[in-house]
Amino acid sequence: MTPIRVGLLGLGTVGSGTVQVLKRNREEIARRAGREILITKATARNLAKPRDFDLDGIELVADAEQLVSDPNIDIVCELIGGDTTTKDLVLSAIAQGKHVVTANKALLAKHGTEIFAAALKARVIVAFEAAVAGGVPIIKTLREGLTANRIEWIAGIINGTSNYILSEMRSRGASFDTVLAEAQAKGYAEADPTFDIEGIDAAHKLTLLSAIAFGIPVQFDKAYTEGISKLTDKDIKYAEQLGYRIKLLGITRNTGHGIELRVHPTLIPAKRLIANVEGVMNAILVKGDAVGATLYYGRGAGSEATASAVVADLVDVTRMLTADPEHRVPHLAFQPDQLRDTPILPINEVETAYYLRLSAYDKPGVMADVTRVLADLDISIDAILQKEAEEGEDIVDVIILTHRAIEKRVDAAIARIEKLPTIAGKVVRVRLEELS
Ligand code: HSE
Repeated sequence: MTPIRVGLLGLGTVGSGTVQVLKRNREEIARRAGREILITKATARNLAKPRDFDLDGIELVADAEQLVSDPNIDIVCELIGGDTTTKDLVLSAIAQGKHVVTANKALLAKHGTEIFAAALKARVIVAFEAAVAGGVPIIKTLREGLTANRIEWIAGIINGTSNYILSEMRSRGASFDTVLAEAQAKGYAEADPTFDIEGIDAAHKLTLLSAIAFGIPVQFDKAYTEGISKLTDKDIKYAEQLGYRIKLLGITRNTGHGIELRVHPTLIPAKRLIANVEGVMNAILVKGDAVGATLYYGRGAGSEATASAVVADLVDVTRMLTADPEHRVPHLAFQPDQLRDTPILPINEVETAYYLRLSAYDKPGVMADVTRVLADLDISIDAILQKEAEEGEDIVDVIILTHRAIEKRVDAAIARIEKLPTIAGKVVRVRLEELS
């Protein structure tokens, strides 16, 4: 059989990992795919840059469109990232009848509907295992391994940078700003860390998981996104004292009357396996009605870990080349004409439990005032913890854990509590999930 010829857009971290994994495991991969998979052409920002890996047999070119249009390329592998130039390149590859493998979560979360429709029309595959959780094969798991199940919910640690920062804050009692600065110095966090720390990267990934889990279009614009930049080490410490850890979770749930799609810091019981996922690692908990809860863990980023997913897609595409398009695994797990327009719930319609931290004057009647507000709004208290006032202070921290409640009721309660004369300043709210 003639080899499959791959054109690689981008020779950065993931691109170089892909070259190296394909070369090192060339024989094994060919035995699995049924034919050799060769990268024959690649683009790079700087063609003259010295590289410490073997580029033998790979023609380096500057012009991405020229690579995409090359009739000798069978699969275009897009590893540039971002959604500016890549959208046109991917659509151009599709229009020219080429299959596409991409690690680009931002592109698919924002333009997936258009891209998958174009791929369907052109009868080509767009594979994107590397777009979510790096080397963890969660897309394949959801689309194939769990296909018998009605997925109830997914909760994932899908941003390694944020998880690293939260892990360090908890283990050392360090502040967010201190750990972020260290992470940037070590190269774990970008110079502009916004996408990672504000939950945007996680929301891109969650949008894709949600579409595949529930058979809905990709709708990044409807995801609720809240990052970790406002979390204090104090709340991480109090959470721990109550038996919880705070993680940046991507949560998507089919409630029966809509889909929850939200990324935010979340208290989860410290005894859960996923609560013990530390550092840059990723983990995704999937609850299916038949299988129950299943957990997937591994490296969510990095050169060869992500390349592992890219190469798996290259093998999948190679194996499926001869299958007629109607018999391939659908891009979003459900047959394209079976996608449903189930609404995404706005965050104020979401139901979850809450951690509330209030700064209260240490005088009689405070608790009565606060509990009356919660009772009036039908919010049930699960636990209360009052800390002793610091020496010379007349303000104490009061932590309340609530049972599950609709967010708009909690918003109303917080607004009323903040107006009480016995309360000083803003109420801190972190959502809480038992994940049971
Ligand atoms: N920046 C991401 C993370 C990896 O920190 O997990 C790529 O999606």
